[in-house]
Amino acid sequence: MAHPVSYGTFPRTRLRRPRMTDWSRRMVAETRLSVDDLILPVFVIAGRNERVTIPSMPGVERQSIDVLVETARRAEKLGIPALALFPYIDPALKTPDAREAYNPNNVVCEATKAIKDACPNLGIISDVALDPFNSNGQDGVVVDGEILNDETTEALVRQAQVQAQAGCDIVAPSDMMDGRIAAIRDMLETENFKKVQIMAYAAKYASAFYGPFRDAIGSASALGKADKKTYQLNPANSDEAIREVAYDLEEGADSVIVKPGLPYLDIVRRVRDNFGVPVFAYQVSGEYAMLRAAADNGWLDYAACAVETLACFKRAGASGILTYSAIDVAEYLG
Ligand code: PBG
Repeated sequence: MAHPVSYGTFPRTRLRRPRMTDWSRRMVAETRLSVDDLILPVFVIAGRNERVTIPSMPGVERQSIDVLVETARRAEKLGIPALALFPYIDPALKTPDAREAYNPNNVVCEATKAIKDACPNLGIISDVALDPFNSNGQDGVVVDGEILNDETTEALVRQAQVQAQAGCDIVAPSDMMDGRIAAIRDMLETENFKKVQIMAYAAKYASAFYGPFRDAIGSASALGKADKKTYQLNPANSDEAIREVAYDLEEGADSVIVKPGLPYLDIVRRVRDNFGVPVFAYQVSGEYAMLRAAADNGWLDYAACAVETLACFKRAGASGILTYSAIDVAEYLG
C-alpha cells in the first residue's frame, strides 16, 4: 500500500529534534556554567567565632576571620576560584575621612593574610572603596556635601596599597571615581606589586538593588536618604557604560565588572562584544534577596532559579559571576 501521507507536509526543520534527549541537549549546549565561573562575596567582621545573620540576606552572614577561614576552605575545596572580601566596620572606627580603610591592620588586611595562609590557591579580591569605613556611608571623601574625586582617589590608592601588602591577588575599585584605575596601577607598579590585578567596577549603576548589601556592611544608616548618583551610572544609560569600560581598560584594568547583574545583561553583552576582555557580572544583594525571599515562601525553586540565572550571565557573555549563591550552586553542580 502506498504511504498514506504525501511527503512535504511535514516541517523539514524540527528544532525540537536535538532537544529530545539529555545527551543531545548537552551536546548542542552553546554555553556551560561551571564552578570556575563563580566568585563568592563574603562579609568579614572583627572578633572571634562571630557569625552575624543579615536579615535582608537570608543564608548570608558576617563572619569573623576564624569562621571566614573555614568558609574559604570550603569554597576552595568546591573549586570556587576566588572570594571577594567586604568588611563590616565597627561604627566607632568610622570617620569622615575613612582613614581605617588604609590601616594596614584593618579587618580586611588581617582576613586576607589569614585566608592566604590557609588557602594559598584561592584568589582574594579586595574591594577598594571607602563606604564601609566612612561615617557618612559614601564611597568617597565628602566635604560640604560634595564627593571629592581626587582626594578620594588618594585615599583609594593608600587603601589598595595596604591590601596589596596584605597579600590580596586582585584589587577591585568599586567607587566609580575618575582616574582611580591609573593611580592605583601606578602605585602597584611603583611599589613592586606588579602581579596584583585590577578588576575594575567599570559599569556600576546607581541601583536600588544594593539595599541588603548596605545592611550587611552597616553603611545603610550612615548613608540615610543620600544617594550615589553623582558617581554611579544612571540606569538609563548604555553608551556611557561603554565609555567607562574603555576608560578603565585604557588606564590598566585587567578585567571589568558590570553591576548589578540580571537587569543589566545588555551591558554585559555590549562590553563583551566591544572589548573582548574578561567581564564579570555582579549578581547583587537585592537580586539574591528577591530570589531567596520567593524561595523561602515556597514560590520559586531556589537552586533551579539560581543555576538558570547564572547560566544566563554566561549566555550574555560574562566570564564569571560574583554571586552570594556561589557555594550553594557549586554544591548543586557537584
Ligand atoms: C560599594 C559597594 C556596593 C556594593 C559593592 N560595593 C554598594 C553601593 O555602591 O552602595 C553592592 C553589592 C551588592 O549589593 O551585593 N562600594
